[in-house]
Amino acid sequence: MRTKLEIRGVEILKGYLDPQAQADMVSDIREVVRAAPLFSPETRFGKKMSVAMTSAGTYGWYTDRRGYRYERKHPSGVHWPPIPERVLAVWRDLVSAERMPDCCLVNFYREGAKMGLHQDRDEADFSWPVLSISLGDAARFRIGSVERGGTTESVWLDSGDVCVMGGEARLVHHGIDKVRFGSSSLLSDGGRINLTLRVVD
Ligand code: SIN
Ligand code: MN
Repeated sequence: MRTKLEIRGVEILKGYLDPQAQADMVSDIREVVRAAPLFSPETRFGKKMSVAMTSAGTYGWYTDRRGYRYERKHPSGVHWPPIPERVLAVWRDLVSAERMPDCCLVNFYREGAKMGLHQDRDEADFSWPVLSISLGDAARFRIGSVERGGTTESVWLDSGDVCVMGGEARLVHHGIDKVRFGSSSLLSDGGRINLTLRVVD
């Protein structure tokens, strides 16, 4: 069943994708990963991220000691594959039919992976929202404020949930504290996929 929550301006559409749509999206992402394999980059502080990632679209999000940025090619030198049509359909439904996202970041959380509180601010135009899709194991999503520090609120993101961070909430701090490994049967070996769609330039 679809229900809608709003926490600190972040819209959370629970149950947006039904189980068949989730499974179809996983097969699309497997194709993306075949063309552009997952890698675990280093943060600008030189720490290897616990999350494995890749991208689809014109740009892929990337980080190393030179900092956070978008790149036109996967580290292997190939262009990122196109964003799957079924993923674009979610953007079209919830954000815009005129302007498509330039990047679909694919984050893969294996057992123990997490993501610290951060803002998405490597894009040129913050008037476009960030849309993210959760697939697989449930994750504890923490939402803070636009400013650093202060209180936070947390919510479980389950497989098929979609989050939209736009307007006043476009630059809120957010992160994943933990994943309840094995809580979903969508991925045969467990784990969680998060797809983040963004307009980059
Ligand atoms: C991110 O903010 O890049 C990922 C969020 C998530 O995994 O839900
Ligand atoms: Mn983010």
